[in-house]
Amino acid sequence: MFIKSLLKKVLSYKLFYFLQKINFIRITYKAFKYDAKRYLKHSNAFFPFNTKGKLLGQIIAEYHAIEKGICMPERRIGFGQKLMSNLIDHCLLFVQNYGTNDENFIHAVKVIAEYDLLHKAYPDKLDSTLEKKIEKFLSNFPYDASSQLQMTREEYLKYNNAPFDKFSQSRHSLRNFSGNVDENILFQAIQLAQTAPSSCNRQPSRVYIINEKEKIAQALALQNGNRGFGHLADKLLIITEDLNYFLSISERNEAYINGGMFSLNLLYALHFYGIGACPLNWCAEQENDMGLRKLCSIPENEIVILLIAIGGIPEKFMLASSPRVHTHTIIKKI
Ligand SMILES: Cc1cc2nc3c(=O)[nH]c(=O)nc-3n(C[C@H](O)[C@H](O)[C@H](O)COP(=O)(O)O)c2cc1C
Repeated sequence: MFIKSLLKKVLSYKLFYFLQKINFIRITYKAFKYDAKRYLKHSNAFFPFNTKGKLLGQIIAEYHAIEKGICMPERRIGFGQKLMSNLIDHCLLFVQNYGTNDENFIHAVKVIAEYDLLHKAYPDKLDSTLEKKIEKFLSNFPYDASSQLQMTREEYLKYNNAPFDKFSQSRHSLRNFSGNVDENILFQAIQLAQTAPSSCNRQPSRVYIINEKEKIAQALALQNGNRGFGHLADKLLIITEDLNYFLSISERNEAYINGGMFSLNLLYALHFYGIGACPLNWCAEQENDMGLRKLCSIPENEIVILLIAIGGIPEKFMLASSPRVHTHTIIKKI
């Protein structure tokens, strides 16, 4: 503090603030470098599959894509063959290094068995090499097939006014829509989502609502994860955070935390009001991010956190089972 006020006196104000800005840029780069180094080293992106966690992350993402494929409103028999082949390879690599006891591995095997069972009724739909690969794999790990969930609208909304435990367990990502969402009810859901906590109550979350079918299709074409159901959405929500509300470099990730908390509260609020919803990642390349900004007039100072496809809930539909790991797995006592 003393040095700062001394420098202010010795240097002209202009020079002082110039140097301060240079220093801020230096600190900013250092902070992002600190984050980037950790991400490069520990995510699966740069040094793939060299830890148990990296392999499990890959296996879960792959079996989940198969679960989704099974639940699609217009399921394509023979879908995801390359994906299935990769999943089996990753499962075998996992067994080789970490054995067969892991709950995620076991669920992956069950999903492979469900895929196999589904395709048994359509003998010519799978490539014969893949068929043999699946058969050989399952002969070594004879678990029962998993079963994705069949639901009715009534069952899905049964716990909307139940205590939180039941209510929260009844929310599932819906990948099948039928009918429209009332604008007034959507407004109430967004209002309820505003009860989410935010840093110093700064409330930097923003919600864009796209109504126009053509615009929804254009936005979804920039997103990787809505194939097979996105076209059924009645509206598309875009959750952004306004960076103007963040104060220092140490808050560089706060927008994502605030946006994540707001988004979950919004998912619960949508469920409460009987609106079907599926969160859609915005892990977009720069070009796609710029495309969405242009399409929806999202200003530079806002970052996109998540898209949410919403629509009416069909009479009957399927849900991905998306099982959760055992709670002991995620608790670390110190
Ligand atoms: C940040 C985030 C991104 C997601 N992106 C997608 C997506 O692109 N496509 C999709 O179908 N589901 C997506 N989901 C939904 C997850 O697959 C789903 O939440 C998970 O499987 C758990 O299932 P549940 O929501 O039914 O409990 C996303 C979820 C989150 C939290």
